[in-house]
Amino acid sequence: MKITKLIIPAAGIGSRFLPITKSIPKEMLPLSNKPAIEYIVQEAYDADIVKVGIILSPEKNVIKEYFEPNTHLDNILAEKNQSYRVAGLNSLIEHINFSYFYQYNPAGLADALMQAKTFIKDDELFAVALPDDIIFGTTPEILYLMQIAEKMQGMVIAVQEVPLENISSYGVIQIDKKIDENCYQIASLVEKPKMEDAPSNLAIVGRYVFHADLFSFIPKTPLTTSSEILLPDTINLMIKSGYPVFAYKVQGERFDTGTPQGWLKFIMQNNNF
Ligand code: G1P
Repeated sequence: MKITKLIIPAAGIGSRFLPITKSIPKEMLPLSNKPAIEYIVQEAYDADIVKVGIILSPEKNVIKEYFEPNTHLDNILAEKNQSYRVAGLNSLIEHINFSYFYQYNPAGLADALMQAKTFIKDDELFAVALPDDIIFGTTPEILYLMQIAEKMQGMVIAVQEVPLENISSYGVIQIDKKIDENCYQIASLVEKPKMEDAPSNLAIVGRYVFHADLFSFIPKTPLTTSSEILLPDTINLMIKSGYPVFAYKVQGERFDTGTPQGWLKFIMQNNNF
C-alpha cells in the first residue's frame, strides 16, 4: 500500500531553546529565511506525500497560521513584483492537505503520536518526521525509508553512527541481522542509554515509517518511572509480537537543529540569503 501521510510531532516545550521558545515555537525558529518545520513539509512534498498531520500544543497555533494562505500579503508582494519571496511556501500551502491535532500535556513522543490516531486508517503504513532533524540529500530522506518499508514489508527507522560519547542523547538500536551496507533488521531499541549500556553506535534519527498497529501498542507499553511511554519501548513490544522492524542509515547530511549548537551549524553552512 502506498504511503500517503506524514505526521510531524511539534508539541514539545522547546526547553533547550528557552526563553525564546516561551513565545516562538522551536519549530518556527529561523533556519536562514525559513522556519525549521517548512524544511520537513518540503521533504514530505518532495517524497510525494501530500497529507501532513501536525501535532501541536494549544500555544503553538502560530505554526498553523504559517501554513494558511495570506491573500493580503500576497497582494502586497504582487504589487511590488516580489511574489517570489513566498512562492516556495505558497506552493506547499496549495499542494499539501494539512491536519492538526493537539497534545495538551507534554507527555513525550509516543503520547504525542497517539493524538493523531484518527489521521491514520487501520492497516495503513505512515511516515513520521521529527522537526529537529533536517536532512539534505539528492533524495528526500523519508523516501528511502518508504522504499525499504515496501521492499522489506516492515516498519523502518532512520539511524546514524554517532560517537559513543554522544550516544546517550539518542534512542539506540541493537542489530538482529545485517541486510546490506545500509540496512539492518532491529532486535531491540533503547531510549537514551548510558554510554556503557549502549547496544551499538547506531542512533535513531527522526524519520520513521510505522504501521497503524503502533496505536494499539502505545497504550499497552509499560510506563517509565517518570510515567512516560517511550516510543522505543512500544516498538520493542511490536518486535516481540512478530512485527519486522528495520533500520536504514541516513544517506543525506543531517543537522540536529534541536540544539543551539546544531542550529548554529545549520545557519553557518546553509545561508540562503
Ligand atoms: C528524539 C527521540 C530519540 C532520537 C532523537 C533524534 O529525542 O526520542 O530516540 O534519537 O529524537 O533526534 P529528542 O532529541 O527529542 O530528545
